[in-house]
Amino acid sequence: MSHRYALFGHPVAHSLSPRIHAAFAKQCGVAMEYALIDATPDDFSTALESFAREGGAGGNVTVPHKQAALALCDHISERARRCGAVNTLMRRDDGWFGDNTDGIGLVRDLTQRHRHDLRERRTLLLGAGGAAAGIAPALLDAGIGSLCIVNRTPTRAADLAATLATPARVQARHWDELGSLGAFDLIVNATAAALEPAALDLPPMRIHAGTLAVDLGYGEAAVDFVTWACRAGCAAAIDGLGMLVEQAAEAFSLWHGRRPAADSVYALLRCDRQLTAMD
Ligand code: ATR
Repeated sequence: MSHRYALFGHPVAHSLSPRIHAAFAKQCGVAMEYALIDATPDDFSTALESFAREGGAGGNVTVPHKQAALALCDHISERARRCGAVNTLMRRDDGWFGDNTDGIGLVRDLTQRHRHDLRERRTLLLGAGGAAAGIAPALLDAGIGSLCIVNRTPTRAADLAATLATPARVQARHWDELGSLGAFDLIVNATAAALEPAALDLPPMRIHAGTLAVDLGYGEAAVDFVTWACRAGCAAAIDGLGMLVEQAAEAFSLWHGRRPAADSVYALLRCDRQLTAMD
């Protein structure tokens, strides 16, 4: 059986995934190669085909290919279908099977590592792109009370809300309403603002003593939002490092049928890189 795995993205050079999977493989006694494949959107399908021809057994997919990956799969999981995106690939005899482990990764990080109860939380989701779509179904499944999607371009928030299966708990609102929507229990930053020239511009918002703020990004990309959350008085602010490790653990389990212990890998990366978290 092939041991070849890879991460497809653009760019991918700074990804922590090879380190995470190498640590899981060592822990579980699994032989595995994990390469980084930088492919532009135009080259992605050819790169994936070549990887399959060369015996690739599975992979991860990151920005900007998650939606394209779904279209290239022959079979997809229910959770990938609901997100409209694939972040984990597994080669089968009849083609690629695609799954999405981002949402479960986020929920595990928040509920198991950080011990937050998500049930009934009045939730604000900032952003309505691929990252937001990848986690919204899992938050609803985790029992949040309501999901208010706010995006700079309002039509995208409405489009994402329309894809979610529980309309009674979901609404889309405009960015300029942010200051008047009341206090949220959970605020998730799923925007790509940290990667764009225009910074995240949040108006003054009501925050209560238990508000939890979460950024899906980690490292430098999470600094602005985590800083905003601390200054705004949120009870806790968490970056996306734990989600990254958990989505990888879920992908590893799918590939190898064994669940690695994610905590030790998370702890190593956290102290190694001095990444941001305040909890
Ligand atoms: P990803 O896959 O990372 O989610 P995406 O699908 O391009 O990438 O979505 C990027 C998201 O970040 C969108 O919700 C985008 O808002 P628009 O739909 O209005 O473009 C949001 N975003 C990017 N830069 C932002 C900024 N400076 N302020 C607020 N939202 C921003």
